[in-house]
Amino acid sequence: MKNFKKLLYLAVLTLGFVSCGEKKETDPMGNPIEETKTTTKALSSEELGKELFEGKGMCFTCHKEDTKIIGPSIKEIAKIYTDKKASISIFLQGETDPIVDPAQFEIMKANFAITKEMTDEELKALEEYMLSYK
Ligand code: HEC
Repeated sequence: MKNFKKLLYLAVLTLGFVSCGEKKETDPMGNPIEETKTTTKALSSEELGKELFEGKGMCFTCHKEDTKIIGPSIKEIAKIYTDKKASISIFLQGETDPIVDPAQFEIMKANFAITKEMTDEELKALEEYMLSYK
């Protein structure tokens, strides 16, 4: 118990020290300037899509804007899905057949493990992001 108190005391001390060490910015009048907090502003669907595409979806490793690397380019996919009025979000749920490059489908299919865990909102966002490239 005594040790615990000691620890708590130390923790409080450390915290105090850390916050005192923080540099406070001041304006020319010497008044502290409010830190511009990066408030989590609501992302638009397309922005969320970009975030997912480059982030947790890891789609960017295989799909680039307009060059085919491992997967077809985003532009090619967007064009074909627009022409055929097909749905990327439904494809990503594993519910429709591939229409871009069926011969390579096995590679893409592995990603359904990620996309099937996504919410409808996230899938729609990915779709919107990809279609913005057409
Ligand atoms: C390991 C590489 C790889 C990753 C990562 C990857 N893809 Fe693909 N993707 C492919 C390949 C290869 C194809 C071509 C096969 C096909 O058309 O299904 C493809 C095709 C597609 C297609 C077209 C499907 C069709 O109708 O033919 C879409 C849409 C797509 N990917 C979206 C995504 C999204 C969204 C992600 C991220 C969640 C992603 N891909 C991640 C390799 C990948």
